[in-house]
Amino acid sequence: MNRRYFLSATGLTTSGLLLGAFTPSLKQKNVKDIRETFSIVKNEISIYTKANVKPTRIFHITDTHLSLDDERGLKYQKFSQRMSGAYKDNVHFQSKKIYSTKESFEWTLQRAKEENSDFLALTGDIFSFPSLASIEWALNKLKETGIPFAFVAGNHDWHYEGMKGSSKQLRDIWTEKHLKPMYQGNNPLFASYDVNRVQFVCIDNSTYEIMPEQLDFFRKKVNSGIPIILMLHIPLYMPGKSMLYGCANPEWGEKADKNYDIEGREKWRKGGHTKVTFDFYNEVFRAKNLLTILAGHSHQSALDVKDGIPQVVSAHNATGYYSDIRISTL
Ligand SMILES: [Fe+2]
Repeated sequence: MNRRYFLSATGLTTSGLLLGAFTPSLKQKNVKDIRETFSIVKNEISIYTKANVKPTRIFHITDTHLSLDDERGLKYQKFSQRMSGAYKDNVHFQSKKIYSTKESFEWTLQRAKEENSDFLALTGDIFSFPSLASIEWALNKLKETGIPFAFVAGNHDWHYEGMKGSSKQLRDIWTEKHLKPMYQGNNPLFASYDVNRVQFVCIDNSTYEIMPEQLDFFRKKVNSGIPIILMLHIPLYMPGKSMLYGCANPEWGEKADKNYDIEGREKWRKGGHTKVTFDFYNEVFRAKNLLTILAGHSHQSALDVKDGIPQVVSAHNATGYYSDIRISTL
């Protein structure tokens, strides 16, 4: 990653941004500009909006990379081998003690309970591969908190490395076979969870790409005028950032794909992104009722602002990291 463009990594510095000043003057039918201010201190974020919302506190959790397994996963072992060895010992982002991914996830949920969080926003790679042991364990832990949650997949959640098939096919297969309960009856590819007059809109971009039905869904949510928090796994393209910011990145494609062999998957698309993915990108940064984007994937905390819209990337929850976000009316 080019550090000159990296606004802030671990240990995010204090910053306050007046977002209204950057908002473009593009006309959007019946949608009012609802952004007021956005502030960040370490892992605590405050969002003030002109819209009428009930004060809401959410925990953004991403990239825990759980790799529990049992006898049901034996037949997939050769596909889970590399990732099951990853993220074994993690330096906790606060105590600096060594935590397993399981301990980090439990610790974070406990914090969310203690702080009376209203909602848990999970933006993918909660699992390093789709083992039933991990999924069942995490679901139980989430249910035990009694806090509503939404989950959108990351590129590892549905991936057993080296299995044949396109990313889209494998995502469909493993969502149906194992991950389905994480979506609580909602569409895994696009869904919206309403919390205190804020809509948490989940769009699965774990293949880096956006599909037409996802764009349509997002448009409807924008046109409702209700405040949106957009949940994605792969951060949206930001000039100067690495290919980890790969969704709608104009450089993304076959030639830029360096890890397909290690990760045992098909190469990225020849010819780069589709028009639909670029259209989605443009419409996201025109949405006047979008308060922030939440993403993961890079495992490093960062904040980028484009056209007055912040994109928060939280560090990996394998280290216990979470973003503690408060939304209020000014
Ligand atoms: Fe990850």
